[in-house]
Amino acid sequence: MLRIDGVEKSYRKGGLFSGERQTVLKNVSFECKPGECLGIIGESGSGKSTLGRLILGIEKPDRGDIFFEGKSVRDRRVRVGSISAVFQDYTSSINPFFTVEKAIREPLTLLGKVRTDDRSKIDRLLHQVGLSPSYRTKYPHELSGGEAQRVCIARAIASEPKCILFDEAISSLDGSVQMQVLELLKELRKMYSMSYIFITHDIQAAAYICDRVVIFRNGQIEETAPIEQLKDVRSEYAKKLLQMIMV
Ligand SMILES: Nc1ncnc2c1ncn2[C@@H]1O[C@H](COP(=O)(O)OP(=O)(O)OP(=O)(O)O)[C@@H](O)[C@H]1O
Ligand SMILES: [Mg+2]
Repeated sequence: MLRIDGVEKSYRKGGLFSGERQTVLKNVSFECKPGECLGIIGESGSGKSTLGRLILGIEKPDRGDIFFEGKSVRDRRVRVGSISAVFQDYTSSINPFFTVEKAIREPLTLLGKVRTDDRSKIDRLLHQVGLSPSYRTKYPHELSGGEAQRVCIARAIASEPKCILFDEAISSLDGSVQMQVLELLKELRKMYSMSYIFITHDIQAAAYICDRVVIFRNGQIEETAPIEQLKDVRSEYAKKLLQMIMV
């Protein structure tokens, strides 16, 4: 469904006129199947978020391409309404001047899918993420971190996408709220039969929600493992990474 094909990305190092470039992604190829939850794990700076931005079409790869159902995500029409995203920083993800209702409505408006009588749709989405209809008129500063992230999730599912990309989406939430949001994400994935790309440095969270994980190191795929075989990873780096986090 989502195919990453030989993707490379580099950024200019230092100032604008510096000729030196830092390669952030090197020949990255993998696939996410329909309905699959694919984890992308790896240490800080290994290129996970860069890959996420390429999948979302926010940036373009220098080489290689990303295909969604056989079509390149370079074409905006391929992405819009089909691939959503939820990021770590929920406070800056929602416009502070938007009510919850307006924030959830935004992607639908962009798709031209909005009707004036679709309050019931907003209420249904709120209900699906565990918030009551009274949240419709609240502003972001009136929400807790967990509630704000639930609003971001409602907005991500509003267009009924086939795939959602999460980049450290639960990392800023505290322990018990993380667990509740993970449960919610599991339920929603079943309900909507979506695929997830779940970028995280939290291997425990990945082990809980993902079917398979891709382990990144210095912009390259070190190893890919089905979740039930996570303990049996072969490469030294993957072993170390797991040991570091699983203590
Ligand atoms: N727009 C940019 N311009 C220049 N360098 C960048 C840019 N975006 C990312 N980088 C560099 O690319 C490398 C990978 O960054 P990236 O954010 O993808 O890592 P990450 O795996 O998501 O890390 P973390 O776990 O800390 O979020 C880093 O060295 C970063 O400094
Ligand atoms: Mg990142």
